[in-house]
Amino acid sequence: MKLFVDTGDVSEVRQAAEWGILDGVTTNPTLIAKSGRGFKETVTEICRLVPGGAISAEVVATDYDDMLREALEISGWHEQIVVKVPLIEPGVRLVSELARRGIRTNVTLVFSVSQALLAAKAGATYISNFVGRVDDMSDDGMDAVADTVAMVANYGFKSEVLVASIRHPLHVVQAVNAGAHVSTMPFKIMQMLFKHPLTEIGLKRFLDDWNGAGLSIFEKQPATL
Ligand code: E4P
Repeated sequence: MKLFVDTGDVSEVRQAAEWGILDGVTTNPTLIAKSGRGFKETVTEICRLVPGGAISAEVVATDYDDMLREALEISGWHEQIVVKVPLIEPGVRLVSELARRGIRTNVTLVFSVSQALLAAKAGATYISNFVGRVDDMSDDGMDAVADTVAMVANYGFKSEVLVASIRHPLHVVQAVNAGAHVSTMPFKIMQMLFKHPLTEIGLKRFLDDWNGAGLSIFEKQPATL
């Protein structure tokens, strides 16, 4: 499964990229606004930090002509950019047109299988299925993920199912179990994926034993005169 970080903060992208496990970055208008920097400078810097990664940048217009203008502008900034498009009527039309032009898309704010079907038929590269916002309403956001993964497989759609609005590591595990293609998550959740108390306890014991025995990996060099 691909791992994306969901952020507009370039320092978080830099840290996640250093781990060597990052496949891409998702941004949204809220995250870009929070970054306090310009849209173009932020996403182009993110592209440089994640060579070859898929970097999602979202249109903000809601009528077709303006959405198309914005999409063509954004996609021209860098070859790694994936145009993020909300699942509304002109958005689905835009995804069809961008697919025809060979421009990759990430359809966002998808909550149901019926919405995902429209995105898949339009030729979306990624379908962003939000889970946390559904859980927040006392429902199970993962239900739609599992059904969408099955729908994409059953009908042979090319779209990848991207689990978004992730709130905790269990969402990532559930995304794996559902066979989702991608998970995008805040940087702090990605950091939490490393954590297990037995890893920390185990490492402490190994190092205490090693150091107690006075061992060293490197042989001591004879002092040069
Ligand atoms: C995905 O691309 C979205 O940017 C994101 O996952 C939304 O998450 P939220 O519900 O925590 O805002």
